[in-house]
Amino acid sequence: MIISPWRDQFDLPRDIAYLNAAQIGPMPRRAVQAGQAAYQAKARPWSRTVAGEFFDTPEALRKAAAGLFHATPDDIALVPAASYGLAVAARNLKLKAGQEILVLDGQFPSNVYTWREMAKRDGATVKTIARRQGESWTEALLAQIGPQTALAACGAIQWIDGGAIDLETVGAEARANGASLVLDLTQSLGVMDFNVQAVKPDFAVAAGYKWLLGPYSLGYLYVAPQHQAGEPLEENWINREGSEDFSQLINYRDGYQPGARRFDMGERSNHQLAPAALEALAVLGEIGVEAAVSHCAAVNDALIEAAAPFGLRADTPDRAGHYLSLSLPGEAPADLAKQLMARGVHVSQRGPRLRVSPHLYSDGEDVARFAEALRAVLG
Ligand SMILES: Cc1ncc(COP(=O)(O)O)c(C=O)c1O
Repeated sequence: MIISPWRDQFDLPRDIAYLNAAQIGPMPRRAVQAGQAAYQAKARPWSRTVAGEFFDTPEALRKAAAGLFHATPDDIALVPAASYGLAVAARNLKLKAGQEILVLDGQFPSNVYTWREMAKRDGATVKTIARRQGESWTEALLAQIGPQTALAACGAIQWIDGGAIDLETVGAEARANGASLVLDLTQSLGVMDFNVQAVKPDFAVAAGYKWLLGPYSLGYLYVAPQHQAGEPLEENWINREGSEDFSQLINYRDGYQPGARRFDMGERSNHQLAPAALEALAVLGEIGVEAAVSHCAAVNDALIEAAAPFGLRADTPDRAGHYLSLSLPGEAPADLAKQLMARGVHVSQRGPRLRVSPHLYSDGEDVARFAEALRAVLG
């Protein structure tokens, strides 16, 4: 029976099998406490220091996020959503008419609509890459990258089937063809090792409320050094140089804060959410990506075994270890996820598949509850 040494750090009742981190990650208790303390402080605004709230906490958050990308704090911007990070990328990459933007079939909409609009702006086209039977996403992508490619936009995994993409190889091929690489790592950062030194993306973003266990509306954007002199989406006072000195704010400045800070969203200091997000990243940081990956992979192996007798199959050939997407037998009800939820088992139905996403807190009892609920519905 798999145990989780970290389960107590979460507020998960024993009669719930929460296998849905890919939709929303539960915040660790410590993060909830930090968020509550931040709300308490808002009732007494004099109780906190201006430097702490406006600068120190966001800088600490930037540093913690940088670690997940193997980047430096200067390379990270604080953003509200994956779509915001992708919009920063679209603003700062220019395409030539007739060039192609590559996306994967069934890719998450924020990472498709952005490029459709960019294609309209620049007279480019969006090419959707499907994979053939037995072909990996990496092979499918590599086969389409060529001199006509301006940009490849994908994630480290495909969010419907959980297939992993070899980003190092794809990045190298994109660079060899003069194309940019923009990544949405929302479904992988924190539970799958990622290193900007190896992949060399132009931009990479992750929403923070799923695998990163943070509050909703805070995410992290990596901006490669060659784009750090680019145009932000907003012209916010705090992103300008010298903003630490509030008495000089109307001594308007042309320069920005160093590195990727110019791309920070307005009110990036986010006095209530940032402390909670910081604590969530601290929990992940203490446990480490390697331990998180191997724990999720072990739980997934047990879930696969539990699901097999009911005809659910882990048939994604290049499946990432932390992400489980099961194909369903023909007789499975259309509302299977809803029926499982009624039995305390929380998973998602995405497209024609059942997405089961355990995290650090998941254990053998969750697996047993999953099997029991499947038996009740399908058995
Ligand atoms: C792959 C992926 N990217 C991004 C998001 C969230 O996008 P946004 O932050 O733009 O709302 C999700 C949410 O399900 C997702 O699955």
